[in-house]
Amino acid sequence: MEKQLYLAAGCFWGAEHFFKQIDGVTFTEVGFANGNTDNPTYEQVYTDTTGFAETVRLSYDPLRVSLTFLLQMYFKAIDPTSLNQQGEDRGTRYRTGIYYTDPDDLPFIRQAMAHEAARHSKPLQVEVLPLNNFFRAEDYHQDYLDVNPDGYCHLPVALFREAREARDLATLQKAEKYRLLLKQLQSLLEGEKDPIACMANAAAMLHDTFHFWWTGFYRVVGDELVLGPFQGPVACMHIAYGKGVCGTAWQQCRTLLVPDVEQFPGHIACSAASRSEVVVPVMHDGSVTAVLDIDSQHLATFDYADRHFLQEVAALLPC
Ligand code: SME
Repeated sequence: MEKQLYLAAGCFWGAEHFFKQIDGVTFTEVGFANGNTDNPTYEQVYTDTTGFAETVRLSYDPLRVSLTFLLQMYFKAIDPTSLNQQGEDRGTRYRTGIYYTDPDDLPFIRQAMAHEAARHSKPLQVEVLPLNNFFRAEDYHQDYLDVNPDGYCHLPVALFREAREARDLATLQKAEKYRLLLKQLQSLLEGEKDPIACMANAAAMLHDTFHFWWTGFYRVVGDELVLGPFQGPVACMHIAYGKGVCGTAWQQCRTLLVPDVEQFPGHIACSAASRSEVVVPVMHDGSVTAVLDIDSQHLATFDYADRHFLQEVAALLPC
């Protein structure tokens, strides 16, 4: 599983050199994003009339590095309060921007922006937009500082060392815990046919391992969800199709990551203490038979790594 992100961080030579060294980043290339022509050349972009921003396209493995961690690194490499200027490079082509292709990224980006904004007295000048277009730059711009180690760069050398040494330990440790849990759960459930017994032990194992606020299942019974095995405080017992995070995940047949429950229209607050949530549909023969619902007392607890591993948990259940 790989994810994509497009980051404008001033001159793309140094920016690519920085991002490519971060553990979990699997691919980088430099190019021009969100402009208003096709196939621009560097010279055309340099005139500052094409609307393009020098941008690094990244692929990353979300089981090694989270979007949130990448954005924390991004903010180390830019002055986010500077408009159309990074270092001595000036112009709209050197503006800063976070361009996303997956709308599910947006709540994580917004949260990283809010976190960063709280560290500055001036407003942030980083634009957050869907990616409209991206054109790869000419070959001689790719891996520029690898090919030209003494080439121009607006970033300090110490920053590259920081990128090389950076490890998203939270994500690495979380992935390790999930892998172990999956092994244990697989052997525990082996041969067990009763879905409720399996859900009960899956909920217990997840809850015990990660100490979430609430971990449990709602089963599809007729046209609604009914409370199933869970760990944590008492919860609402019936949820209608399409209602709340659980009913919406059932309706859309997809995992929903909710970094801030207050931002999810129609969220059902079984407990005021819950601040973020993930709901994973449990599928059997192409239809949803239950949902796995997990709540956290903290914002943005769940990300793409949780989604990946919790879907593996759901796939182990004999519903
Ligand atoms: N928050 C859920 C309801 C279930 S509780 O979180 C346990 C929802 O909006 O569907």
